[in-house]
Amino acid sequence: MKNIYLNIFPFNKKVLNRSVSHLKKGKVLGLPTETVYGLAGNAYSKKAINKIFTLKKRPKFNPLIVHYSNYKDIIHDVDINDNFLKLYKKLCPGPITFILKKKINSKIKKTATANLNTVAIRFPNHHVIKKILKEINFPLAMPSANLSSGLSPVTAGNVAEEFKKKLDFIIDGGRSKIGIESTVIDLTSEPKILRPGSIGPHVIKKILKRRIESPKKKLRHKSPGMLKKHYSPGIPMILNQTKFNTKHAAIVIGKKFKNSENYFNLSKDSNLKEAASNLYSTLRKIKNLKYKKIYVIKIPKKGIGIAINDRLKRASY
Ligand code: TXA
Ligand code: MG
Repeated sequence: MKNIYLNIFPFNKKVLNRSVSHLKKGKVLGLPTETVYGLAGNAYSKKAINKIFTLKKRPKFNPLIVHYSNYKDIIHDVDINDNFLKLYKKLCPGPITFILKKKINSKIKKTATANLNTVAIRFPNHHVIKKILKEINFPLAMPSANLSSGLSPVTAGNVAEEFKKKLDFIIDGGRSKIGIESTVIDLTSEPKILRPGSIGPHVIKKILKRRIESPKKKLRHKSPGMLKKHYSPGIPMILNQTKFNTKHAAIVIGKKFKNSENYFNLSKDSNLKEAASNLYSTLRKIKNLKYKKIYVIKIPKKGIGIAINDRLKRASY
């Protein structure tokens, strides 16, 4: 594909050095991760944090995830506990975010955590972000690189589409393999999943050898960013459908659907992982084709299907 965006750079040693020097100066960059692309800035810099909130038009009450290279780097910022260590050993680096208590003398900016006494931390697993994190001595605050309440980006082109000329440095790290944001788990007391993701409750339950609470309405306030409306393509979406017409976009899954212009198949093999990785790009495609309505088939609520249903529900709100 022709690169029509001058702000997208392929990854190499020179681009690595430039990105490190930009981040040190408090600049904000578009970077790839294995889940979705992020808008990254120094979590210890007020200037960088302000830029992230302004660029995304993100409400100030919605805290950011702070990304680290290694658990040794977190000791001055958060209190570590046993549940964290068990999950870290098995799942990191990877698509899981932990809510932990913030240390009083942590250098993470208050604005990054929306003044909460907790911090969301993650160890991303993508070669680009891993190399960058190794070169800097501060963590990266990094929300998904989209305008607030919109669709998360899974390619460098998607990021450029969101911010246009307002963001002048995006690294192309290929398509995000997982395609859906990390699982968020609160570990400050009884472990609770606040945002479902590709790592499901059964996996966590096995590692911690205990029951895990899943998101419930009454827990919503615990994750200030879990707004009812989110991940929205800005078009009416009707979920759990069985019949589709030729006029509106239809999001389907499985072999029984014939190829038709308005049919968008998330996975012909009914593979839910593949479906998750195609979700945001499909919604983006449908939006750009200017369809007026989207009908969506029922997606099984098992494994990563739980996360797909969560995003669809918010996208349709
Ligand atoms: O996969 C991901 O997690 C991506 C990539 C770029 O790492 N990032 C991402 O960030 O999805 P964002 O900002 O789009 O979503 C962060 C979520 C929000 O729902 C936010 O409210 C929640 O994490 N969060 C952040 N800090 C929190 C805290 N201290 N307590 C509870 N929830 C928190
Ligand atoms: Mg987001």
